[in-house]
Amino acid sequence: MAVRDIVPEKVATLRAGKVPFYEPGVDELIDRNSERLGFTLDAAEAVAGAEFVFICVDTPPTYSGDADLSRVWTAIEELPVSRERLILVMKSTVPVGTGEKVRAALDARGLDSVGYASNPEFLAEGTAVRDFLEPDRIVVGAFEEADAEAVEQLHAGVDAPVVRTDVASAEMIKLASNAYLGTRISFINEIANVCELVGADVNDVARGMGLDARIGRSYLRPGVGFGGSCFPKDISFLKLLAGNSGYHFQLLNSVIEVNELQKRRVVGKLQKHLGTLRGKTVALLGLAFKANTDDLREAPSIVLASRLLAEGADVRAWDPVADASQVLKGVSFHDTVLETVTGADAAVVVTEWDQLRSLASTDTREAMRTPLIIDGRNLLDPDEVRAAGFTYEGIGRASSPLDVLPETEEPDQPFPERAPATED
Ligand code: UGA
Repeated sequence: MAVRDIVPEKVATLRAGKVPFYEPGVDELIDRNSERLGFTLDAAEAVAGAEFVFICVDTPPTYSGDADLSRVWTAIEELPVSRERLILVMKSTVPVGTGEKVRAALDARGLDSVGYASNPEFLAEGTAVRDFLEPDRIVVGAFEEADAEAVEQLHAGVDAPVVRTDVASAEMIKLASNAYLGTRISFINEIANVCELVGADVNDVARGMGLDARIGRSYLRPGVGFGGSCFPKDISFLKLLAGNSGYHFQLLNSVIEVNELQKRRVVGKLQKHLGTLRGKTVALLGLAFKANTDDLREAPSIVLASRLLAEGADVRAWDPVADASQVLKGVSFHDTVLETVTGADAAVVVTEWDQLRSLASTDTREAMRTPLIIDGRNLLDPDEVRAAGFTYEGIGRASSPLDVLPETEEPDQPFPERAPATED
């Protein structure tokens, strides 16, 4: 099997047996299969003798929010013209209708012997190896029955139901799945926000809801909003695809808006406890868009840090793997959690890294200027954190009363009253 990339450094790293990104288990997998794996910059070399060619390039959003398919098209255009029978398998997330266009382009080049199948990928970062080897389902959409059969056979040995469908439906399954999961997250985030107002605990609510087999427990964790290279862009793709096709997908507008506001809610929570943030020191703990990845794409931490800087806060940050130094100017980065919280007026759990489970320690409390923890992932036990002498506030959970803060840290008025406007 040959893997082709256009970035020489990545190919060199992979050839040296290393992985150019952080994903648990991928290095062992490559190591175990090194005998039958090759890495190359050369498209012709990669494709030579292949029966299947997988397109796995990214499809980032354009300025309009639609999918930028230029990399998909480049990969297809670089396919050596050959009359050999091979099947092009689309793994990249593409708008519905892309398969039809690729088919037409292949036919126009006289490559009608090349088959085409949509075989969307459902793996999540951080658990990619497990998700790939033990998927919930395998989706195959092809124009020709024989091509669908061949792609299905490639997965023989994987214990998962296979959904065979037409190409457009396979493409839609991918977009609809991501949009639905994002919708659940925005839904539970809104429930959390209402819980805060009415005195309910969203963790209990999510558990109580999720035990209903019709609802299920997954993707009901409230937090600082969803990020990553998939949900935000795929939800936007689906919304725009619908719009471009003449349908106004109202629900997805709300899903997106709720998510944008959720990323900013921590700022309000900090202001509630600290008053103005100008001159206050805030420690952001975790920067990656979720744990077990170094991916910062669309990470809520970026929006949060930028808002805090705009409010005049001094922002310190820590992440065990993600390097945000090129993205977040004006933030100071630290190697340990303790160093990050030193002198801070608040510590914010932004990513649910395991290392943060022991955050509410005596060391942390003594190092901080104000012992305030804002738990953006509901990672910690509120009672334990309070018993350790911190003011605690999570997402959608009863918050600490404001009067537990030390007298010297009396909150300022978040919105100081303005002098009435005078008429000239
Ligand atoms: C997502 C999907 O889960 C995969 O099935 C899909 O293949 C992938 O996108 C893709 O299209 O390539 P990923 O973005 O890696 O995978 O990560 P998720 O674990 O789904 O998390 C996405 C975001 O939602 C993260 O910011 C996470 O913190 C957030 N999230 C997730 C919540 O806020 N609450 C939850 O209950 C679950």
